[in-house]
Amino acid sequence: MQNKGTYYITTAIAYTSGKPHIGNTYEAVLADSIARYKRADGYDVYFQTGSDEHGQKIETRAAEEGMSPQEYVDMTAGEIKRLWDLMGTSYDRFIRTTDADHAGQVQKIFKKLYDQGDIYKGKYEGMYCTECEAFYTKQQLVDGRCPECGGEVHPASEEAYFFRMGKYAPRLIEYINSHPDFIQPVSRRNEMMNNFLLPGLQDLCVSRTSFKWGIPVSFDEKHVIYVWLDALCNYITGIGYDAEGNSSALYRRYWPAQLHLVGKDIIRFHTIYWPIFLMALGEPLPHQVFGHPWLLQGGEKMSKSKGNVLYADDLVDLFGVDAVRYFVLHEMPYENDGVITWDLMVERINSDLANTLGNLVKRTVTMSNKYFDGVVEDRGAAEPVDGDLKSTVTGAYALAEAHMAELRVADALTDIMNVYKRLNKYIDETEPWVLARDEAKQDRLATVLYNLTEGILTATSLLSPFLPSTAEKIAAQLGVPLCSFETLGEFGKYPSGHKVTAEPEILFARLDKEEILAKAQVISERQRAEFLAHQEKAAKNLAAAGLSKEQPVVSSGEHQEKAAGKTPENAAGEPAEAAVPAGKPKVTIDDFDKMEFRVGTVLQCEAVKGSRKLLCFRVKIGGEERQIVSGIHKYYEPEKMVGRKVMVIVNLEPATLAGLRSEGMLLSAADPVTGEVALMTPDPDKEIGSGAEIC
Ligand code: MSP
Repeated sequence: MQNKGTYYITTAIAYTSGKPHIGNTYEAVLADSIARYKRADGYDVYFQTGSDEHGQKIETRAAEEGMSPQEYVDMTAGEIKRLWDLMGTSYDRFIRTTDADHAGQVQKIFKKLYDQGDIYKGKYEGMYCTECEAFYTKQQLVDGRCPECGGEVHPASEEAYFFRMGKYAPRLIEYINSHPDFIQPVSRRNEMMNNFLLPGLQDLCVSRTSFKWGIPVSFDEKHVIYVWLDALCNYITGIGYDAEGNSSALYRRYWPAQLHLVGKDIIRFHTIYWPIFLMALGEPLPHQVFGHPWLLQGGEKMSKSKGNVLYADDLVDLFGVDAVRYFVLHEMPYENDGVITWDLMVERINSDLANTLGNLVKRTVTMSNKYFDGVVEDRGAAEPVDGDLKSTVTGAYALAEAHMAELRVADALTDIMNVYKRLNKYIDETEPWVLARDEAKQDRLATVLYNLTEGILTATSLLSPFLPSTAEKIAAQLGVPLCSFETLGEFGKYPSGHKVTAEPEILFARLDKEEILAKAQVISERQRAEFLAHQEKAAKNLAAAGLSKEQPVVSSGEHQEKAAGKTPENAAGEPAEAAVPAGKPKVTIDDFDKMEFRVGTVLQCEAVKGSRKLLCFRVKIGGEERQIVSGIHKYYEPEKMVGRKVMVIVNLEPATLAGLRSEGMLLSAADPVTGEVALMTPDPDKEIGSGAEIC
């Protein structure tokens, strides 16, 4: 096989703040399929994944569990690795940010950047929003209030180290402009340029003093290194980068990476901070950062408190590894978020894997056994119908190759499934059971079965990076090894006269939806019970440690992480805990009566640029239309809002949020424990714009 060069691929390293859900696992499976595909395609591949183990959130989680941070991350990193292994991910290194080689290098990198003047010691002075746990500069405030939630801010300051981002911004802009493939998909590139780079970069706070669980700055140990600087460096430390100039042979062979595969939420860290750190280190930049969309449970974010988090191991128990791999790879669109539900999984597995693929293999192998004792022979009795079949089979590799070059993995899988579909159609066209009844058609029957076997072998060889164990099972049934990609454009690779297995096993049994849904219900209830038990345990452990949820262990330093674009939701893998309300003063019925409520219908809804929390609504209330800005993006996706009825307070003083005028407020309720927000919805039969008496 021709060597096409090196291919270093990485995933984001998952937070050790909890068990990763199927969305996180999807990324590992996606990277694995690409890595396997590239290996099969002749590349010298190195695939790295791992766990991100430092930071305040993890320190807090450990305290909740009554464990030391190290014990806690040993447990959760073990869980991540176990799930990646369960899914068959073929990584070359699973790096942990607590690994000594990584931590040592991060210290050296920090020192190098400090010595050369890219990092300097300064004072963080900013306006702090307690609600958002974030620092802002005065310029970032909107009407003197938090640009995210519109809440009050107060001054706060602390000593910290800063990285001179602005120094490298022009070079990065130039790099992105001259390397159109660097950020993909294109929409994400535009977002980075327009929302972040072009408006100008501020210096980045790269150390913390407010907690201990991090890599200490070697020359100033009361500071720990900012988790994102620590975490991003894994891509080079993992293959032996040395800040003192003695990088390993592995590093010289594989860096720069071909692909950093990350979720859409962290693309900014990978396309702004990371390339700038690399420029400062004098290292080449990765070829591509691909920001994949998210997998949502029934269109919603997964949350333990709702009991709707899907975990790979639960899914594997019900469906098997390759069925789960198939679903997530096939269902994820290129740019938009994908949806996973138990129902959809059952439908997809039954139609594609049990019917199209499983039945095809079983029927073909069974017919070879029934008619020719398992011997598959090309007797050259071709007919015109074979032409189209053969070109579909031999053309599949080129189609998949073109899609894989653009990382359109779901489309590549569809190309392969189309071959199986074409083969099924060929069975209908040729009717082997009719040929079998006619002595004179035995050569044609043998040729038809040969063509089917050859088609299955070709498609399955291409399928193997995506569903490796299924591909191996099929190869075993055909009695031959899978083919090298180089040969997939030719027809006739199956050795004529070879025997298939006498007893084909069922690859994917048909699933009963009711049965699966009943099991899903049990899983969901278990999850909800575990969540509540965890809440109770966490409260006890925190109290024993002299901490409480109402007084988060978080203090000023860490908040820059959020201000930099990382929500606690990501850090925790679930929505951040909200403090139990402090108990507002009583209001009289007269106070309440001052508010005027109306039913409205959402006409338009979009995310507010530059804000992770705010949505901007256009709401029709009777004959009137109003613009309302609401901080519920964390819980509601804008595209799902259009057409919904909402309750609106219409006589609220207008306010300006993130520069947008808001003329009213949508009524919603927040869960006092989890902080999750639910919009209040009027009776469906209420007339739009009607006044709604609240009694
Ligand atoms: N630790 C950081 C990454 C540091 S990389 C130097 C992090 N960890 S994470 O555990 O929150 O997320 C790991 C990956 O999973 C990220 O790429 C993230 O975007 C991705 N996903 C998180 N939720 C997801 C879905 N629901 N669907 C698909 N991917 C998701 O961020």
